[in-house]
Amino acid sequence: MEDSSRVSERGAGWACQKIGTFEKLRPNQSTFTWLRPTTLWRSRNEILARWLGDPSPQVRRRWVAAQRERGADPGFRVPVAAGEEFSFLVLGDTGEGDASQYAVVPGMLKIGQGTSFAIIASDVIYPTGSGNEYCDKFFRPYKDYPAPIYAVPGNHDWYDGLGGFMRVFCDAPPLALQRQGFRPSLPGLRGLLWKKPDPIDETALAKARELRGLPAQRGQYERRGRRDRDGRWAVQPGPYWVLDTGRLLIVGIDTGIDGTLDREQGEWLRRVSSEPLPKILITGKPIYVNNAHHPCPIEGGGTVDDVVRDPANRYVAVIGGDVHNYQRYPIRVDDRTIQYVVSGGGGAFTHATHTIPRVDVGGVEEDEFRCYPLRGDSLSFYSLLYSRRLHLRGLYVTPEEGVALMSRQIGNVPPRPASNLRLTARMRWAARMLGGWPMPFHLPVGRFFHRWISELSDWDTPPFFKNFLHLSVVGDSLRIRCYAATGCLLQEIDPPLEDEVEIPL
Ligand SMILES: [Fe+2]
Repeated sequence: MEDSSRVSERGAGWACQKIGTFEKLRPNQSTFTWLRPTTLWRSRNEILARWLGDPSPQVRRRWVAAQRERGADPGFRVPVAAGEEFSFLVLGDTGEGDASQYAVVPGMLKIGQGTSFAIIASDVIYPTGSGNEYCDKFFRPYKDYPAPIYAVPGNHDWYDGLGGFMRVFCDAPPLALQRQGFRPSLPGLRGLLWKKPDPIDETALAKARELRGLPAQRGQYERRGRRDRDGRWAVQPGPYWVLDTGRLLIVGIDTGIDGTLDREQGEWLRRVSSEPLPKILITGKPIYVNNAHHPCPIEGGGTVDDVVRDPANRYVAVIGGDVHNYQRYPIRVDDRTIQYVVSGGGGAFTHATHTIPRVDVGGVEEDEFRCYPLRGDSLSFYSLLYSRRLHLRGLYVTPEEGVALMSRQIGNVPPRPASNLRLTARMRWAARMLGGWPMPFHLPVGRFFHRWISELSDWDTPPFFKNFLHLSVVGDSLRIRCYAATGCLLQEIDPPLEDEVEIPL
Protein backbone atom coordinates (compact mmCIF):
# COMPACT_ATOMS: atom_id res chain seq x y z
CA MET A 1 0.00 0.00 0.00
CA GLU A 2 2.05 2.94 -1.23
CA ASP A 3 -0.24 5.91 -1.19
CA SER A 4 -3.90 5.59 -0.34
CA SER A 5 -6.48 7.37 1.79
CA ARG A 6 -5.05 5.44 4.76
CA VAL A 7 -1.62 6.96 4.17
CA SER A 8 -2.22 10.58 3.23
CA GLU A 9 -4.77 13.17 2.14
CA ARG A 10 -3.01 13.17 -1.21
CA GLY A 11 -3.69 9.43 -1.50
CA ALA A 12 -7.37 10.14 -0.83
CA GLY A 13 -7.40 12.50 -3.80
CA TRP A 14 -7.90 15.67 -1.74
CA ALA A 15 -4.90 17.39 -3.32
CA CYS A 16 -6.19 16.97 -6.84
CA GLN A 17 -3.87 18.92 -9.13
CA LYS A 18 -5.23 17.54 -12.36
CA ILE A 19 -8.50 15.90 -13.28
CA GLY A 20 -8.24 12.43 -14.84
CA THR A 21 -8.51 11.44 -18.48
CA PHE A 22 -11.96 9.91 -17.89
CA GLU A 23 -13.54 13.20 -18.98
CA LYS A 24 -12.58 12.36 -22.56
CA LEU A 25 -14.46 9.05 -22.40
CA ARG A 26 -17.77 10.65 -21.52
CA PRO A 27 -20.29 10.91 -24.35
CA ASN A 28 -21.57 14.29 -23.12
CA GLN A 29 -21.37 16.46 -20.06
CA SER A 30 -24.89 15.76 -18.91
CA THR A 31 -25.31 14.77 -15.31
CA PHE A 32 -27.67 12.02 -14.29
CA THR A 33 -30.63 13.57 -12.55
CA TRP A 34 -33.26 12.14 -10.27
CA LEU A 35 -35.05 15.45 -10.05
CA ARG A 36 -36.58 15.47 -13.50
CA PRO A 37 -40.33 14.73 -13.18
CA THR A 38 -40.04 12.10 -15.93
CA THR A 39 -37.28 10.29 -13.98
CA LEU A 40 -39.46 10.27 -10.90
CA TRP A 41 -42.52 9.05 -12.76
CA ARG A 42 -40.46 6.32 -14.43
CA SER A 43 -39.14 5.26 -10.99
CA ARG A 44 -42.63 4.81 -9.52
CA ASN A 45 -42.29 1.01 -9.43
CA GLU A 46 -39.83 1.51 -6.57
CA ILE A 47 -42.57 3.09 -4.44
CA LEU A 48 -45.24 0.64 -5.63
CA ALA A 49 -43.06 -2.36 -4.78
CA ARG A 50 -42.33 -0.97 -1.33
CA TRP A 51 -45.95 -0.18 -0.47
CA LEU A 52 -47.84 -2.87 -2.31
CA GLY A 53 -45.38 -5.76 -2.55
CA ASP A 54 -42.52 -6.87 -4.75
CA PRO A 55 -43.64 -8.73 -7.89
CA SER A 56 -40.10 -9.68 -8.95
CA PRO A 57 -40.16 -13.29 -7.60
CA GLN A 58 -43.13 -14.23 -9.79
CA VAL A 59 -41.74 -12.40 -12.82
CA ARG A 60 -38.31 -13.99 -12.29
CA ARG A 61 -39.86 -17.44 -12.39
CA ARG A 62 -41.25 -16.61 -15.83
CA TRP A 63 -37.90 -15.38 -17.11
CA VAL A 64 -36.21 -18.50 -15.81
CA ALA A 65 -38.84 -20.80 -17.37
CA ALA A 66 -38.46 -18.97 -20.69
CA GLN A 67 -34.66 -19.33 -20.56
CA ARG A 68 -34.94 -23.06 -19.88
CA GLU A 69 -37.39 -23.32 -22.76
CA ARG A 70 -34.82 -21.61 -25.00
CA GLY A 71 -32.21 -24.19 -24.08
CA ALA A 72 -30.18 -22.40 -21.41
CA ASP A 73 -28.07 -24.70 -19.25
CA PRO A 74 -30.47 -26.26 -16.70
CA GLY A 75 -28.08 -25.56 -13.80
CA PHE A 76 -27.52 -21.97 -15.03
CA ARG A 77 -23.87 -22.82 -15.23
CA VAL A 78 -21.27 -20.85 -17.18
CA PRO A 79 -18.05 -22.74 -17.84
CA VAL A 80 -15.07 -20.38 -17.61
CA ALA A 81 -11.73 -21.65 -18.85
CA ALA A 82 -9.62 -19.39 -16.68
CA GLY A 83 -6.76 -21.73 -15.75
CA GLU A 84 -5.31 -22.67 -12.36
CA GLU A 85 -4.37 -19.09 -11.49
CA PHE A 86 -6.60 -16.28 -12.66
CA SER A 87 -8.06 -12.96 -11.69
CA PHE A 88 -11.26 -10.98 -12.23
CA LEU A 89 -12.91 -7.67 -11.36
CA VAL A 90 -16.09 -6.88 -9.42
CA LEU A 91 -17.88 -3.54 -9.76
CA GLY A 92 -21.07 -2.57 -7.97
CA ASP A 93 -23.85 -0.09 -8.77
CA THR A 94 -22.34 1.31 -11.93
CA GLY A 95 -25.01 2.68 -14.23
CA GLU A 96 -25.52 6.42 -13.85
CA GLY A 97 -23.61 7.23 -17.02
CA ASP A 98 -22.12 10.39 -15.52
CA ALA A 99 -18.70 11.55 -14.29
CA SER A 100 -18.62 9.32 -11.22
CA GLN A 101 -19.16 6.19 -13.36
CA TYR A 102 -16.63 7.14 -16.04
CA ALA A 103 -14.07 8.13 -13.38
CA VAL A 104 -13.76 4.45 -12.41
CA VAL A 105 -12.95 3.32 -15.96
CA PRO A 106 -9.25 4.21 -16.44
CA GLY A 107 -8.18 2.59 -13.16
CA MET A 108 -10.36 -0.42 -13.80
CA LEU A 109 -8.74 -0.92 -17.22
CA LYS A 110 -5.28 -0.56 -15.73
CA ILE A 111 -5.75 -2.89 -12.76
CA GLY A 112 -7.96 -5.15 -14.88
CA GLN A 113 -5.17 -5.99 -17.33
CA GLY A 114 -4.94 -9.76 -17.61
CA THR A 115 -8.20 -10.41 -15.76
CA SER A 116 -10.37 -13.18 -17.25
CA PHE A 117 -13.72 -11.46 -16.73
CA ALA A 118 -15.58 -8.80 -14.78
CA ILE A 119 -18.80 -8.94 -12.77
CA ILE A 120 -21.23 -6.11 -12.12
CA ALA A 121 -23.06 -6.62 -8.84
CA SER A 122 -26.36 -4.71 -8.73
CA ASP A 123 -27.85 -1.69 -10.51
CA VAL A 124 -26.36 -1.95 -13.98
CA ILE A 125 -28.66 0.82 -15.23
CA TYR A 126 -30.26 3.73 -13.31
CA PRO A 127 -32.99 4.72 -12.83
CA THR A 128 -35.13 1.89 -14.25
CA GLY A 129 -32.86 -0.62 -16.02
CA SER A 130 -34.14 0.38 -19.45
CA GLY A 131 -32.72 -1.56 -22.40
CA ASN A 132 -32.43 1.74 -24.24
CA GLU A 133 -29.88 3.16 -21.82
CA TYR A 134 -27.20 0.50 -22.05
CA CYS A 135 -25.17 2.36 -24.67
CA ASP A 136 -23.79 5.16 -22.48
CA LYS A 137 -24.14 3.40 -19.13
CA PHE A 138 -22.65 0.01 -20.03
CA PHE A 139 -21.28 -0.56 -23.54
CA ARG A 140 -19.46 2.78 -23.90
CA PRO A 141 -17.77 2.95 -20.50
CA TYR A 142 -16.53 -0.66 -20.73
CA LYS A 143 -15.80 -0.74 -24.48
CA ASP A 144 -12.05 -1.15 -23.89
CA TYR A 145 -12.37 -3.84 -21.24
CA PRO A 146 -11.25 -6.86 -23.30
CA ALA A 147 -13.00 -9.73 -21.45
CA PRO A 148 -16.63 -10.76 -20.82
CA ILE A 149 -18.78 -9.00 -18.23
CA TYR A 150 -21.41 -10.92 -16.26
CA ALA A 151 -23.93 -9.28 -13.95
CA VAL A 152 -26.52 -9.80 -11.25
CA PRO A 153 -29.39 -7.31 -11.30
CA GLY A 154 -30.14 -4.76 -8.61
CA ASN A 155 -33.49 -3.30 -7.61
CA HIS A 156 -33.17 -0.60 -10.28
CA ASP A 157 -32.78 -3.17 -13.07
CA TRP A 158 -36.03 -4.71 -11.85
CA TYR A 159 -38.02 -1.47 -12.27
CA ASP A 160 -38.07 -2.43 -15.95
CA GLY A 161 -39.32 -5.94 -15.15
CA LEU A 162 -35.72 -6.98 -15.92
CA GLY A 163 -36.45 -6.63 -19.66
CA GLY A 164 -33.31 -4.57 -20.44
CA PHE A 165 -31.04 -6.77 -18.33
CA MET A 166 -32.33 -10.03 -19.84
CA ARG A 167 -32.09 -8.66 -23.38
CA VAL A 168 -28.50 -7.48 -22.98
CA PHE A 169 -26.92 -10.16 -20.78
CA CYS A 170 -28.95 -13.23 -21.76
CA ASP A 171 -30.01 -12.32 -25.31
CA ALA A 172 -33.58 -13.04 -24.20
CA PRO A 173 -36.57 -11.90 -26.25
CA PRO A 174 -39.26 -10.02 -24.29
CA LEU A 175 -41.69 -12.14 -22.28
CA ALA A 176 -45.20 -12.19 -23.67
CA LEU A 177 -46.41 -10.86 -20.34
CA GLN A 178 -43.70 -8.27 -20.30
CA ARG A 179 -45.11 -6.77 -23.46
CA GLN A 180 -48.30 -6.17 -21.51
CA GLY A 181 -46.34 -4.71 -18.64
CA PHE A 182 -47.18 -7.60 -16.28
CA ARG A 183 -50.44 -5.82 -15.61
CA PRO A 184 -52.71 -8.82 -16.00
CA SER A 185 -50.75 -10.60 -13.31
CA LEU A 186 -50.67 -7.73 -10.84
CA PRO A 187 -53.96 -7.21 -9.08
CA GLY A 188 -55.46 -3.89 -8.04
CA LEU A 189 -53.76 -0.54 -7.81
CA ARG A 190 -50.26 -1.89 -8.32
CA GLY A 191 -51.25 -3.44 -11.65
CA LEU A 192 -52.91 -0.21 -12.71
CA LEU A 193 -49.96 2.05 -11.93
CA TRP A 194 -47.08 -0.35 -12.61
CA LYS A 195 -44.74 1.03 -15.23
CA LYS A 196 -44.53 -0.96 -18.45
CA PRO A 197 -41.06 -2.01 -19.55
CA ASP A 198 -39.57 0.19 -22.25
CA PRO A 199 -39.91 -1.29 -25.74
CA ILE A 200 -36.29 -1.71 -26.83
CA ASP A 201 -34.99 0.04 -29.93
CA GLU A 202 -33.28 -3.02 -31.38
CA THR A 203 -31.37 -1.12 -34.07
CA ALA A 204 -29.84 1.22 -31.49
CA LEU A 205 -29.06 -1.70 -29.17
CA ALA A 206 -27.34 -3.65 -31.95
CA LYS A 207 -25.21 -0.58 -32.68
CA ALA A 208 -24.39 -0.13 -29.00
CA ARG A 209 -23.39 -3.78 -28.72
CA GLU A 210 -20.72 -3.19 -31.37
CA LEU A 211 -18.84 -1.14 -28.77
CA ARG A 212 -18.17 -4.44 -26.99
CA GLY A 213 -18.37 -6.64 -30.04
CA LEU A 214 -15.06 -8.52 -29.96
CA PRO A 215 -15.42 -12.30 -29.52
CA ALA A 216 -13.32 -12.12 -26.34
CA GLN A 217 -15.72 -9.54 -24.91
CA ARG A 218 -18.80 -11.54 -25.77
CA GLY A 219 -17.85 -14.54 -23.68
CA GLN A 220 -16.82 -18.15 -23.46
CA TYR A 221 -19.89 -19.66 -25.05
CA GLU A 222 -19.11 -18.08 -28.37
CA ARG A 223 -15.55 -19.33 -28.35
CA ARG A 224 -16.78 -22.80 -27.57
CA GLY A 225 -19.27 -22.47 -30.40
CA ARG A 226 -22.22 -23.14 -28.15
CA ARG A 227 -25.61 -21.73 -29.04
CA ASP A 228 -29.00 -21.97 -27.50
CA ARG A 229 -32.01 -23.46 -29.25
CA ASP A 230 -32.85 -20.23 -31.07
CA GLY A 231 -29.38 -20.29 -32.58
CA ARG A 232 -28.33 -17.18 -30.66
CA TRP A 233 -25.10 -16.82 -28.81
CA ALA A 234 -25.70 -17.07 -25.11
CA VAL A 235 -23.40 -15.39 -22.63
CA GLN A 236 -25.31 -15.59 -19.40
CA PRO A 237 -28.05 -18.17 -18.80
CA GLY A 238 -30.26 -16.04 -16.54
CA PRO A 239 -30.43 -13.43 -13.78
CA TYR A 240 -28.71 -15.87 -11.41
CA TRP A 241 -25.84 -18.13 -12.41
CA VAL A 242 -22.72 -19.97 -11.36
CA LEU A 243 -19.37 -19.31 -13.02
CA ASP A 244 -17.41 -22.54 -12.89
CA THR A 245 -13.72 -21.74 -13.10
CA GLY A 246 -12.67 -25.27 -12.15
CA ARG A 247 -10.89 -23.91 -9.08
CA LEU A 248 -13.57 -21.78 -7.51
CA LEU A 249 -17.31 -21.43 -8.03
CA ILE A 250 -18.60 -17.87 -8.26
CA VAL A 251 -22.30 -17.95 -7.47
CA GLY A 252 -24.42 -14.93 -8.48
CA ILE A 253 -27.91 -14.51 -7.02
CA ASP A 254 -30.75 -12.19 -7.97
CA THR A 255 -32.30 -10.54 -4.92
CA GLY A 256 -34.97 -8.64 -6.89
CA ILE A 257 -36.41 -5.43 -5.49
CA ASP A 258 -36.81 -6.15 -1.80
CA GLY A 259 -33.84 -8.46 -1.20
CA THR A 260 -35.36 -11.95 -1.09
CA LEU A 261 -35.02 -15.18 -3.09
CA ASP A 262 -37.91 -17.05 -4.71
CA ARG A 263 -38.32 -20.71 -3.81
CA GLU A 264 -36.96 -22.05 -7.12
CA GLN A 265 -33.84 -19.90 -6.91
CA GLY A 266 -33.38 -20.95 -3.30
CA GLU A 267 -33.47 -24.62 -4.30
CA TRP A 268 -30.97 -23.94 -7.08
CA LEU A 269 -28.70 -22.07 -4.63
CA ARG A 270 -28.75 -24.96 -2.15
CA ARG A 271 -27.98 -27.43 -4.93
CA VAL A 272 -25.09 -25.44 -6.36
CA SER A 273 -23.73 -24.67 -2.90
CA SER A 274 -23.45 -28.35 -2.01
CA GLU A 275 -20.81 -28.90 -4.71
CA PRO A 276 -17.31 -29.51 -3.32
CA LEU A 277 -15.37 -26.48 -4.68
CA PRO A 278 -14.76 -23.34 -2.56
CA LYS A 279 -17.17 -20.52 -3.38
CA ILE A 280 -17.77 -16.79 -3.50
CA LEU A 281 -21.30 -15.42 -3.42
CA ILE A 282 -22.15 -12.32 -5.47
CA THR A 283 -25.42 -10.68 -4.48
CA GLY A 284 -27.42 -7.54 -5.22
CA LYS A 285 -27.98 -6.94 -1.50
CA PRO A 286 -25.13 -7.30 1.02
CA ILE A 287 -25.61 -9.59 4.02
CA TYR A 288 -23.60 -7.39 6.40
CA VAL A 289 -23.76 -3.64 5.85
CA ASN A 290 -23.69 -0.51 8.02
CA ASN A 291 -23.05 -2.64 11.13
CA ALA A 292 -26.24 -4.64 10.57
CA HIS A 293 -27.04 -8.20 9.49
CA HIS A 294 -29.48 -8.87 6.62
CA PRO A 295 -29.53 -12.64 6.13
CA CYS A 296 -31.74 -12.50 2.97
CA PRO A 297 -34.83 -14.72 3.38
CA ILE A 298 -35.62 -17.53 0.97
CA GLU A 299 -39.28 -18.14 0.14
CA GLY A 300 -40.43 -21.24 2.00
CA GLY A 301 -37.92 -20.90 4.85
CA GLY A 302 -34.26 -20.41 5.63
CA THR A 303 -31.94 -17.65 4.51
CA VAL A 304 -29.09 -17.14 2.09
CA ASP A 305 -26.79 -16.58 5.05
CA ASP A 306 -27.69 -20.06 6.42
CA VAL A 307 -26.43 -21.48 3.12
CA VAL A 308 -23.27 -19.35 3.27
CA ARG A 309 -22.45 -20.32 6.87
CA ASP A 310 -22.92 -24.07 6.38
CA PRO A 311 -19.32 -25.35 6.56
CA ALA A 312 -20.09 -28.09 4.00
CA ASN A 313 -20.79 -25.39 1.40
CA ARG A 314 -17.29 -23.87 1.62
CA TYR A 315 -18.13 -20.20 1.09
CA VAL A 316 -15.11 -17.97 1.72
CA ALA A 317 -16.57 -14.56 0.80
CA VAL A 318 -19.80 -12.73 0.03
CA ILE A 319 -19.76 -9.58 -2.10
CA GLY A 320 -22.82 -7.36 -2.39
CA GLY A 321 -23.66 -4.05 -4.03
CA ASP A 322 -26.61 -1.74 -3.32
CA VAL A 323 -24.83 0.54 -0.84
CA HIS A 324 -22.50 2.86 -2.72
CA ASN A 325 -19.25 2.51 -0.81
CA TYR A 326 -16.86 -0.20 0.37
CA GLN A 327 -17.14 -2.11 3.67
CA ARG A 328 -15.55 -5.35 4.85
CA TYR A 329 -16.64 -7.46 7.83
CA PRO A 330 -14.47 -10.51 8.65
CA ILE A 331 -17.06 -12.70 10.38
CA ARG A 332 -15.94 -15.70 12.39
CA VAL A 333 -18.15 -18.72 11.80
CA ASP A 334 -17.00 -21.61 13.99
CA ASP A 335 -13.29 -22.00 13.22
CA ARG A 336 -13.41 -20.17 9.88
CA THR A 337 -13.56 -16.52 8.83
CA ILE A 338 -15.93 -15.50 6.06
CA GLN A 339 -15.27 -12.12 4.44
CA TYR A 340 -18.53 -10.19 3.98
CA VAL A 341 -17.88 -7.31 1.60
CA VAL A 342 -19.97 -4.39 0.38
CA SER A 343 -18.70 -3.01 -2.90
CA GLY A 344 -21.24 -0.63 -4.40
CA GLY A 345 -18.87 2.21 -5.25
CA GLY A 346 -18.53 1.33 -8.95
CA GLY A 347 -20.24 4.40 -10.40
CA ALA A 348 -23.26 5.90 -8.66
CA PHE A 349 -23.03 8.75 -6.17
CA THR A 350 -21.15 7.83 -2.95
CA HIS A 351 -23.15 6.96 0.17
CA ALA A 352 -21.76 8.21 3.49
CA THR A 353 -19.62 5.95 5.67
CA HIS A 354 -19.40 8.42 8.58
CA THR A 355 -22.87 7.35 9.74
CA ILE A 356 -21.67 3.76 10.33
CA PRO A 357 -21.48 3.42 14.13
CA ARG A 358 -18.65 1.71 16.00
CA VAL A 359 -18.68 -1.76 14.48
CA ASP A 360 -19.62 -4.74 16.66
CA VAL A 361 -21.97 -6.75 14.43
CA GLY A 362 -21.41 -10.51 14.24
CA GLY A 363 -18.54 -10.28 16.73
CA VAL A 364 -16.40 -8.10 14.42
CA GLU A 365 -14.26 -5.60 16.26
CA GLU A 366 -14.06 -2.00 15.12
CA ASP A 367 -10.37 -2.11 14.30
CA GLU A 368 -10.86 -5.20 12.09
CA PHE A 369 -13.54 -3.44 10.05
CA ARG A 370 -12.52 -1.63 6.86
CA CYS A 371 -14.36 0.96 4.84
CA TYR A 372 -13.76 3.32 1.96
CA PRO A 373 -14.08 6.26 1.95
CA LEU A 374 -12.75 6.59 5.48
CA ARG A 375 -15.45 7.93 7.80
CA GLY A 376 -13.46 11.16 8.22
CA ASP A 377 -13.19 11.68 4.45
CA SER A 378 -16.89 10.91 4.07
CA LEU A 379 -17.72 13.55 6.70
CA SER A 380 -15.45 16.10 5.02
CA PHE A 381 -16.92 15.25 1.57
CA TYR A 382 -20.50 15.84 2.73
CA SER A 383 -19.55 18.92 4.74
CA LEU A 384 -18.06 20.43 1.59
CA LEU A 385 -21.21 19.68 -0.41
CA TYR A 386 -23.55 21.15 2.17
CA SER A 387 -21.42 24.14 3.11
CA ARG A 388 -21.37 25.16 -0.55
CA ARG A 389 -25.02 24.49 -1.13
CA LEU A 390 -26.25 26.18 2.04
CA HIS A 391 -23.58 28.94 1.94
CA LEU A 392 -22.58 27.98 5.48
CA ARG A 393 -18.80 28.14 5.76
CA GLY A 394 -18.89 26.94 9.37
CA LEU A 395 -20.32 23.60 8.29
CA TYR A 396 -17.12 22.67 6.48
CA VAL A 397 -14.67 20.35 8.19
CA THR A 398 -11.30 19.65 6.58
CA PRO A 399 -10.28 16.04 5.88
CA GLU A 400 -7.88 16.22 8.83
CA GLU A 401 -10.64 17.51 11.13
CA GLY A 402 -12.97 14.84 9.72
CA VAL A 403 -10.61 12.01 10.63
CA ALA A 404 -10.01 13.43 14.11
CA LEU A 405 -13.74 13.96 14.75
CA MET A 406 -14.72 10.50 13.58
CA SER A 407 -11.96 8.69 15.47
CA ARG A 408 -13.00 10.54 18.63
CA GLN A 409 -16.64 9.58 18.09
CA ILE A 410 -15.98 5.94 17.11
CA GLY A 411 -13.12 5.43 19.56
CA ASN A 412 -10.89 3.65 17.05
CA VAL A 413 -7.26 3.87 16.04
CA PRO A 414 -7.20 6.82 13.57
CA PRO A 415 -7.11 5.13 10.15
CA ARG A 416 -4.87 7.90 8.81
CA PRO A 417 -2.07 9.47 10.80
CA ALA A 418 -3.17 12.91 12.00
CA SER A 419 -1.58 15.65 14.05
CA ASN A 420 -2.90 16.33 17.52
CA LEU A 421 -5.82 18.46 16.53
CA ARG A 422 -7.98 20.28 19.09
CA LEU A 423 -11.65 19.70 18.35
CA THR A 424 -13.62 22.93 18.62
CA ALA A 425 -17.34 23.36 19.37
CA ARG A 426 -17.86 24.47 15.78
CA MET A 427 -16.35 21.24 14.39
CA ARG A 428 -18.45 19.10 16.71
CA TRP A 429 -21.58 21.00 15.67
CA ALA A 430 -20.76 20.39 11.99
CA ALA A 431 -20.23 16.65 12.67
CA ARG A 432 -23.63 16.52 14.42
CA MET A 433 -25.40 18.36 11.60
CA LEU A 434 -24.01 15.80 9.13
CA GLY A 435 -24.82 12.66 11.10
CA GLY A 436 -21.28 11.79 12.19
CA TRP A 437 -21.94 12.62 15.87
CA PRO A 438 -25.11 11.75 17.74
CA MET A 439 -28.09 14.08 17.32
CA PRO A 440 -31.82 13.29 16.99
CA PHE A 441 -31.84 14.47 13.38
CA HIS A 442 -29.26 15.47 10.78
CA LEU A 443 -28.95 16.49 7.14
CA PRO A 444 -29.52 13.53 4.78
CA VAL A 445 -26.34 11.75 3.62
CA GLY A 446 -27.59 8.30 2.54
CA ARG A 447 -30.08 7.11 -0.04
CA PHE A 448 -32.29 10.16 0.43
CA PHE A 449 -29.32 12.38 -0.33
CA HIS A 450 -28.48 10.34 -3.39
CA ARG A 451 -32.00 10.63 -4.78
CA TRP A 452 -32.98 14.14 -3.92
CA ILE A 453 -30.05 16.29 -2.94
CA SER A 454 -27.01 15.10 -4.86
CA GLU A 455 -28.65 16.79 -7.85
CA LEU A 456 -28.40 20.16 -6.19
CA SER A 457 -24.78 19.83 -5.29
CA ASP A 458 -23.02 20.43 -8.62
CA TRP A 459 -20.63 17.71 -7.54
CA ASP A 460 -18.45 17.28 -10.61
CA THR A 461 -15.05 17.76 -9.02
CA PRO A 462 -12.85 14.98 -7.61
CA PRO A 463 -12.37 13.22 -5.29
CA PHE A 464 -15.38 10.99 -6.03
CA PHE A 465 -14.40 8.18 -3.61
CA LYS A 466 -15.37 5.37 -5.98
CA ASN A 467 -14.05 1.80 -5.71
CA PHE A 468 -13.79 -1.53 -7.51
CA LEU A 469 -12.44 -4.96 -6.55
CA HIS A 470 -9.69 -7.10 -8.04
CA LEU A 471 -9.80 -10.77 -7.03
CA SER A 472 -7.07 -13.24 -7.83
CA VAL A 473 -6.49 -16.91 -7.26
CA VAL A 474 -2.76 -17.38 -6.77
CA GLY A 475 -1.29 -20.62 -5.45
CA ASP A 476 -3.57 -21.83 -2.69
CA SER A 477 -5.16 -18.54 -1.86
CA LEU A 478 -7.69 -16.00 -2.99
CA ARG A 479 -6.74 -12.34 -2.70
CA ILE A 480 -9.37 -9.61 -2.60
CA ARG A 481 -8.12 -6.09 -3.24
CA CYS A 482 -10.14 -2.89 -3.11
CA TYR A 483 -8.87 -0.11 -5.35
CA ALA A 484 -9.98 3.51 -5.27
CA ALA A 485 -11.01 5.74 -8.14
CA THR A 486 -10.97 9.40 -7.21
CA GLY A 487 -11.23 11.07 -10.61
CA CYS A 488 -7.77 12.64 -10.20
CA LEU A 489 -5.06 11.95 -12.75
CA LEU A 490 -2.62 10.87 -10.06
CA GLN A 491 -4.86 8.03 -8.87
CA GLU A 492 -5.79 7.10 -12.44
CA ILE A 493 -2.13 6.45 -13.18
CA ASP A 494 -1.59 4.58 -9.94
CA PRO A 495 -4.91 3.45 -8.42
CA PRO A 496 -4.61 3.42 -4.61
CA LEU A 497 -4.92 0.06 -2.90
CA GLU A 498 -7.37 0.75 -0.07
CA ASP A 499 -7.76 -2.74 1.35
CA GLU A 500 -6.44 -6.22 0.82
CA VAL A 501 -7.23 -9.58 2.33
CA GLU A 502 -5.85 -13.03 1.62
CA ILE A 503 -8.01 -16.11 2.07
CA PRO A 504 -6.63 -19.67 2.04
CA LEU A 505 -8.64 -21.88 -0.34
FE1 LIG B 1 -27.54 1.22 -6.28
